[in-house]
Amino acid sequence: MNNRTQVGIIGAGPSGLLLSHLLHLEGIDSVIVEVRSRQYVEERVRAGVLEQGTVDLLCETGLGDRLQREGLIHHGIELRFDGHGHRIALSDLTGGRSIWIYGQREVVKDLIDARLAAGGSIHFEVDDVKLSDVESSNPRLSFRKDGQVQELNCDFIAGCDGFHGVSRNSIPAGVLQTYHHVYPFGWLGILAAVAPSTEELIYAYHDRGFALHSLRSSEISRLYIQVEPDEDIYDWPDERIWQELSIRMATDDDWELTTGPVLEKGITPMRSFVVEPMQYGRLFLAGDAAHIVPATGAKGLNLAVHDVHKLAEALTTWHRKGSKELLENYSRNCLDRVWRVQDFSSYMSLMLHRYSDDDGFRSRLQRAQLNYVCSSDAAARSLAENYVGLPHL
Ligand code: FAD
Ligand code: PHB
Repeated sequence: MNNRTQVGIIGAGPSGLLLSHLLHLEGIDSVIVEVRSRQYVEERVRAGVLEQGTVDLLCETGLGDRLQREGLIHHGIELRFDGHGHRIALSDLTGGRSIWIYGQREVVKDLIDARLAAGGSIHFEVDDVKLSDVESSNPRLSFRKDGQVQELNCDFIAGCDGFHGVSRNSIPAGVLQTYHHVYPFGWLGILAAVAPSTEELIYAYHDRGFALHSLRSSEISRLYIQVEPDEDIYDWPDERIWQELSIRMATDDDWELTTGPVLEKGITPMRSFVVEPMQYGRLFLAGDAAHIVPATGAKGLNLAVHDVHKLAEALTTWHRKGSKELLENYSRNCLDRVWRVQDFSSYMSLMLHRYSDDDGFRSRLQRAQLNYVCSSDAAARSLAENYVGLPHL
């Protein structure tokens, strides 16, 4: 194996794979190391909503074929409470921008196919990934594959290894400032083999807790309910999940939730997390390795895409012109958007979830917010422009 690459990338999630693809288009080589198998990363069920800017970038860089064919374009979402639905007309409110439903699984499959077709190097199922000399101009990445330790000399290392990865934790104590907020609720998500009971996403506010109806295709639905963060999935047989979803989404008219076989289910805690800066020496953090947003705003993957877009531009400028300016500004440029998105995701989360310790004050504020966003053009426009995503600057 050639033990040198321009950019060593840790993690084959959306961030690492897209970074590798964007660098390749600029003639910069990279090597990705990933602890999981190809099948595992391709089958992990996570995000489903792509912002307009994410779709534009994927299409402009040759990844749009299947997305255009199989993705579903959506021009609105519904906020549902007190038995009524209120449509937020995303496209009308944002000069024609929209969102797309295209699962993270599909994005990851398209990226892996594109990287491998172009001769890209992805090492799956490695372990013992270690970073060294990231403060020097010759950072190194070592890992074990098939029992053998390998070492890669790099110009730069990109830490794209998610919230539980090694990159962030390899930065010396005291360098990063960490901001962490844990919300007092989690989401129980299911993927179900049933046609969606809705054409657009439904975000439902209910006394028993939040519920969300999303989808993946005309045959596959994705639904979530608010649960306690430490809830045991074994306490939630499928019938109980469907029953709870039906209650929380019920309307005063004859709308009905169609149930079907559950293909997958899991519980995710809701947190906000940011590290500053997103860089140390020649190590750059991107995506969930640097920040987590609560899923209510549907932003994590989109934020990861923005990071690697900026990182690819900065690395290209360095490799072409030797200019460090964009690399030095990487963290600042990303963090502006990270905090905007943190604010929006927190706003959506606080407006839509029930708090078990609420004495009635919080729920009254929530109703006031919901009534406002469903009756004021200005409030709806603000939600819509954040939901479809602000342009990449
Ligand atoms: P990850 O996807 O976590 O990828 C990191 C990769 O690094 C993984 O493959 C991991 O195996 C690998 N790795 C870890 N440690 C190591 C190591 N030591 N060495 C090598 N590799 C390592 N976002 C949206 O935009 N829209 C949504 O609708 C949405 N819905 C969501 C719903 C749920 C239930 C959840 C949990 C998340 C959702 N998200 C959503 C968030 C989105 O899934 C993440 O933000 C996104 O996966 C981040 O991509 P990433 O590549 O940065 O990290
Ligand atoms: C999803 O489809 O998985 C999804 C949709 C909207 C969200 C979060 C997740 O806010």
